[in-house]
Amino acid sequence: MKTDSRIYVAGHRGMVGSAIARRLLAGGHTGVITRTHAELPLDDAAAVTSFFAAERPEYVFLAAAKVGGIVANSTQGGDFIRENLQIQTNVIDAAYRYGARKLLFLGSSCIYPKFAEQPIVEEALLTGPLEETNLPYAVAKIAGKTMCDAYAQQYGFDAFTVMPSNVYGVGDNLHPEHSHVVAGMMRRFHEAKRAGGDAKVVVWGTGSPLRELIDADDLADACVFLMNNYSGGHMINVGSGEEISIRQLAILMRSVVGFEGDVEFDAARPDGTPRKIMDNTRLTAMGWRPKVTITAGIEKMYTWFAESQQA
Ligand SMILES: NC(=O)c1ccc[n+]([C@@H]2O[C@H](COP(=O)([O-])OP(=O)(O)OC[C@H]3O[C@@H](n4cnc5c(N)ncnc54)[C@H](OP(=O)(O)O)[C@@H]3O)[C@@H](O)[C@H]2O)c1
Repeated sequence: MKTDSRIYVAGHRGMVGSAIARRLLAGGHTGVITRTHAELPLDDAAAVTSFFAAERPEYVFLAAAKVGGIVANSTQGGDFIRENLQIQTNVIDAAYRYGARKLLFLGSSCIYPKFAEQPIVEEALLTGPLEETNLPYAVAKIAGKTMCDAYAQQYGFDAFTVMPSNVYGVGDNLHPEHSHVVAGMMRRFHEAKRAGGDAKVVVWGTGSPLRELIDADDLADACVFLMNNYSGGHMINVGSGEEISIRQLAILMRSVVGFEGDVEFDAARPDGTPRKIMDNTRLTAMGWRPKVTITAGIEKMYTWFAESQQA
């Protein structure tokens, strides 16, 4: 990408899209194009066509999607599959038809088989049954990845998929019931600190499951790196390579938030998958390395979180 290339970031108000837009602006890119959901509903094919016909972006980061936790996924499966299929079909097809040079589609590690061998290699896709709770979402994402591959193969369109591990960071969803592990834990430690007295934090499960977390700014850096350096119509895992147990994460969170009370692990609650980590060999072989340590990432996120609570 040149500094004046026309670059469309779809979903620039979300956690991942906003990090990509920040990274591009910090890198001196002057041609970043954005539209809010209200300005351009990406599930509206006619609106997407008009936008691409008028703006003709050269590079497209597709970070817009309907995302949500287990509750939303299991109760609104119809919305998840329809809206995501529409968004990605409209954007990938219009990008190709209106001459984009390259498109990067955001996949998700939840589309790998539930019992994939760890660390998960890209070839594990479609080799086993998926997690049932978010099947409509996962199937839509697999369709998006397949559409990128098929457009690359049939039309020579340079479209590829990035598969991030668990993302956390500035702009994360802070909803008390619908947030991911890091944001949910941060909220509980923050609220316990504010409550003071003998407030304690109870963490679900034994604390032993291992997770690979990637900071949103690191993911954005990898996306920009791949847009500049990768062509090939495949998909690429993007993880930090750094594993942390839920127990270690809770201890780190306690220290970053400055909570001085007790932390308890409720072993009667489910642990979930014991280990989830991606194999990042393809990406690291290209020369990319994560820059944000888990401690620095959690500190940065907490600064943002604390400010957002005061606003
Ligand atoms: N967060 C993670 O841990 C994670 C992990 C792996 C992969 N990913 C992938 O990364 C991508 C972005 O995730 P995220 O965490 O950044 O999600 P997010 O914070 O919810 O952002 C999604 C963005 O898409 C926009 N959007 C949704 N539906 C739209 C529509 N119909 N038309 C136009 N805009 C629409 C949203 O706008 P509104 O808010 O205005 O609706 C929002 O700005 C997703 O594809 C996700 O699967 C995320």
